[in-house]
Amino acid sequence: MLVAPSILSADFGKLSEEIEAICEAGCDLVHVDVMDGHFVPNMTIGPVVVQSVAKTSTRPLDIHLMVENNDFFVDLFAPLKPEFISFHLESEKHPDRMIQKIRSLGIRPAIVLNPHTLPEETEFLLENLDMVLLMSVNPGFGGQKFIPSVLEKISRLKRLIQKLNPDCLIEVDGGVSDSNIRSLEEAGADIVVAGSYVFNHPEGYSQAIESLR
Ligand code: DX5
Ligand code: ZN
Repeated sequence: MLVAPSILSADFGKLSEEIEAICEAGCDLVHVDVMDGHFVPNMTIGPVVVQSVAKTSTRPLDIHLMVENNDFFVDLFAPLKPEFISFHLESEKHPDRMIQKIRSLGIRPAIVLNPHTLPEETEFLLENLDMVLLMSVNPGFGGQKFIPSVLEKISRLKRLIQKLNPDCLIEVDGGVSDSNIRSLEEAGADIVVAGSYVFNHPEGYSQAIESLR
């Protein structure tokens, strides 16, 4: 299991130290939540801050856009050379075009599905995707309760992926902890995003990441 701590739960007063600490603790990716105050009822960070995250991080960035204007935000973040940029299917009129755009910028494209969106909605996009991110909370905030129906979605998506594009990864984001990691793994998740579980773990970041892995 690959682990991507979400820096939404980090202490932004000492962000560089936090990034160094999760990288030293052995995370696989650094998950960056970008919210515009329109698609979701919250706002986070833009390219100025993410640029310093990118400089400090020794791990690839996994940028999760929760925005209405994907085109604009992809252009803003592409120069930082993240590993993945994921955008919400619910916010994009032309998902296939957006996937092509992200790939043409040398970045691995991913699509995110909100809790209500059927995994089969990705069927005719899958062959061009490197990852599908399934939300296991409603996007916008860290520290929310895990929605268990994502487990069935993972299994259904896994079947489609095996048929259409076996290299495509499944990432799960929201409410991930040591209490649901086993079921996520059994259902077929490849990467988990974990914010509050990692950053609030009483035994520290290494222990948190290790326990998920
Ligand atoms: C929610 C974000 C998540 C969030 C996860 O909109 O996409 O990445 O930070 O936080 P936890 O792990 O606390 O649910
Ligand atoms: Zn996220």
